[in-house]
Amino acid sequence: MPLVTTKDMFEKAYKGGYAIGAFNVNNMEIVQGITEAANEVNAPVILQVSKGARAYANHTYLVKLVEAAVIECPNIPIALHLDHGPDFETCKSCVDGGFTSVMIDASSKPFQENIEITKRVVEYAHDHGVVVEAELGALAGIEDDVKVSAEESHYTHPEEVEEFVTKTGCDSLAIAIGTSHGAYKFTPEQCTVNEQGVLVPPPLRFDVLEEVTRRLPGFPIVLHGSSSVPQEYVRMVNEDGGQMPNAIGVPEEQLRKAAALSVCKINIDSDLRLAMTGTIRKFFNDEPSKFDPREYLKPARANIKELVRHKLIDVLGCAGKA
Ligand code: G3H
Ligand code: 13P
Ligand code: ZN
Repeated sequence: MPLVTTKDMFEKAYKGGYAIGAFNVNNMEIVQGITEAANEVNAPVILQVSKGARAYANHTYLVKLVEAAVIECPNIPIALHLDHGPDFETCKSCVDGGFTSVMIDASSKPFQENIEITKRVVEYAHDHGVVVEAELGALAGIEDDVKVSAEESHYTHPEEVEEFVTKTGCDSLAIAIGTSHGAYKFTPEQCTVNEQGVLVPPPLRFDVLEEVTRRLPGFPIVLHGSSSVPQEYVRMVNEDGGQMPNAIGVPEEQLRKAAALSVCKINIDSDLRLAMTGTIRKFFNDEPSKFDPREYLKPARANIKELVRHKLIDVLGCAGKA
């Protein structure tokens, strides 16, 4: 089947109590690792491209890599999505250039300005059969060249969501309920220690999610910053010369719980980066005389595939839903 929008995926995910995985792609091995996993477990999937990915790999290369995946995996729905579109022009360029979904992220702007920018993107995208994700609230962490500190971050205000969605006409809404971008969440200082002496990260604000859901019944909600920072890869990075802090990420059970509610799309990027980097670091340490990129990219791709498979089956619940 050709590239699809997320409309049908989200309708089914909402009703079925699961979420679609949205994974960032920057090169061929990442596209292959994700789509081979989705294909094997028969899951719909969203491949997303950031401004940084377009700057790194070039729009055309990324679109063609995704089109290749569509040919290789004809039986699963695949959407191509712009992640964190910073302005109208970038969104237009992706709509014109073959994407089926775009995010306009004007969440750092004042509320009315966010509405105006989002509305403009929605009008253009809908005229071209493309769907739009927008955002309200500010996640902590790093995305592209924007770094939001914990103090600058704030949860979505549920009382704003009806006006925002009605006035903009957006198709899905990313909200801030305590997830955070990057692989540095949550450090021991941000966690509490339970009776068993285990670090517990700050829980997601399910009260905010529930209130948003009550105000927007049936409307697809998106979670960004949902990497769980797999400890095996943090260890692998650190044992093989890297220096990642001891962050522990968003607990997967909390993502599963969100997926069973109104959250239809969950963004995971940093976990795949960790899998790739950890694997390559280990390879170089174990095999110091090897220099063929295929030899170290092959296990990196295989581990991305294994990780995505786990997310699709055990966290998102979307395996078998293609
Ligand atoms: O939220 C951002 C994504 O992880 C993409 O990251 O801007 O470094 O490509 P990037
Ligand atoms: P992570 O950094 O938690 O993987 O989040 C990715 C993301 O939200 C992409 O938009
Ligand atoms: Zn994001």
